Amino acid sequence: MLERSDHLVVKDLNVSRGEARVLFDINLHLAPNEIIACVGRNGAGKSTLLKSICGFLPADSGTVEGHGQPLSGLRPYEVARLGVKYVPQDKRVFSDLTVRENLELGSYASGDYDWDPVISFFPKLKILMDRKAGHLSGGERQMLMIGRAILGKPKVLLIDEPTEGLAPIIVIHLKHVFKELSKTAAILIVEQNLPLVCAISQRVYALKEGRFVAELQGDQIRTDVCEHYL
Ligand SMILES: Nc1ncnc2c1ncn2[C@@H]1O[C@H](COP(=O)(O)OP(=O)(O)O)[C@@H](O)[C@H]1O
Ligand SMILES: [Mg+2]
Repeated sequence: MLERSDHLVVKDLNVSRGEARVLFDINLHLAPNEIIACVGRNGAGKSTLLKSICGFLPADSGTVEGHGQPLSGLRPYEVARLGVKYVPQDKRVFSDLTVRENLELGSYASGDYDWDPVISFFPKLKILMDRKAGHLSGGERQMLMIGRAILGKPKVLLIDEPTEGLAPIIVIHLKHVFKELSKTAAILIVEQNLPLVCAISQRVYALKEGRFVAELQGDQIRTDVCEHYL
């Protein structure tokens, strides 16, 4: 099941927060050009999973590999440099900096100063360049976060609840962006919007109380995802 060519392989991952174990024996793989989703109730451990993969939370045990290289124990910036980028749930941008300055920081961190792909995915950012990020709408902020994440042309994108609270028209736009991005990257998305999950995911992992209870593929996603989400 675990292929050498997988962009991301998580094996037997156990993670605690404080005294409490939150993730139990998580096994996951993500192939090039795949979009996979992780679904589950609030508190199931979805954000903990992404944070642990990208180095923000240490694991109690288990391993994470990105493109054949061990990521376990690396700092977040080291994980990012290896081409695994994380878009957190809390839409964290530098509020006092402009869109341009936020992108410049992303360029500085990744060494990638080519903003053409960012603008081609999110043309609106071009007219917002001089706006303070703190004054952006939720949708614009998400565009900035994803735009910043794709600097450096990552091989893996981990995206936590990108459509939370966004207008349907922006969700449709993001759906196209994710499909397009998957031509060059593999994407693991945590998402509550089940129609979006069904529309873009090749596989879906259902997380319940810190354990994967199902892995859905193909038609199973449409028929069974609601059951596992509840
Ligand atoms: N900062 C934190 N410190 C301690 N426990 C936390 C923290 N954040 C989340 N948790 C706990 O970890 C568990 C999983 O949370 P989380 O990964 O955020 O779930 P999800 O993203 O699926 O809603 C929950 O029981 C939550 O209470
Ligand atoms: Mg979460």
